[in-house]
Amino acid sequence: MGKWSIRMDFANVIAEKEGPVAVITLNRPQQLNALSYDLVKDLSLAMQAFDQDDQVRVMIVTGGEKVFAAGADIKEMADQGPFDERIQERLKYRDRINKISKPVIAAVSGFALGGGCELAMSCDIIIASETARLGQPEVNLGIIPGSGGTQRLTRAVGKYRAMEMVLAGEAMSAAEAERFGLVNRVVPVELLLEEAKSMAKKIAAKPVLAVKAAKEAVLKSANTALDEGLEFERKSFYMLFASEDRKEGMKAFLEKRKPEFKGK
Ligand code: CAA
Repeated sequence: MGKWSIRMDFANVIAEKEGPVAVITLNRPQQLNALSYDLVKDLSLAMQAFDQDDQVRVMIVTGGEKVFAAGADIKEMADQGPFDERIQERLKYRDRINKISKPVIAAVSGFALGGGCELAMSCDIIIASETARLGQPEVNLGIIPGSGGTQRLTRAVGKYRAMEMVLAGEAMSAAEAERFGLVNRVVPVELLLEEAKSMAKKIAAKPVLAVKAAKEAVLKSANTALDEGLEFERKSFYMLFASEDRKEGMKAFLEKRKPEFKGK
């Protein structure tokens, strides 16, 4: 990919976009990208801004080649009480990340621990480098995961492996994470961002309404019984028949040409 065209200013993340792909890089390398209040706020605001930006189709969240994120900022948390306003606020910003409507790809290299692993799991696709280590070590600090680490992890790897990670606090290697379906694929470190961008560009070329509906429907499956999920899927499926892109997609197939999608 060539030069980045747009860059937003944040203290703790680098937010850039080129055409339809936005990349948000966590940027507290000295603290292994520990997810401080300020970082979570910046990340959340950057993602929301890109979610509103019609030019952006897909986002990539990464920590760079060395580390994804070593979890919530322990220094910051050490003196906080359960009803501390900043904890509540932090969680509010954090939860907004789960509501992003565009596809989000996590590009994970090095440690993705605690809140870092949870952040990756909040994304829709996880590309890992060979050095990735994903884990939920909160038990070592006398707490448990607080942003999905007991729920999304269990859905991803099953009860028994999740129990081992959450109870013993041990991280998974990239190879194991791939075997357990916690990451989509593993690539050499130097190819991580390239692979994530290539996946992002592939999705960005698809008709936008169908992509949005597809993400919504897949996420719905985690929160509903099968019947309700199927009903939701069927409604979205029918709704897409009203889109111009659906007509164009089918027409192009029959005319043996490339479709020209308009996002309508
Ligand atoms: N919070 C704050 N600072 C952190 C941090 C964190 N989670 N993780 C690392 N750092 C800081 C270290 O304090 C250190 O800073 P100084 O140089 O100022 O001392 C710097 O980053 C480098 O870290 P290390 O020297 O420890 O690096 P290492 O390579 O020896 O070890 C590590 C790496 C194994 C990831 C180790 O840093 C570690 O275990 N970190 C904590 C991991 C953790 O417990 N995460 C869960 C946090 S709780 C959570 O996330 C709750 C939630 O779900 C909301």
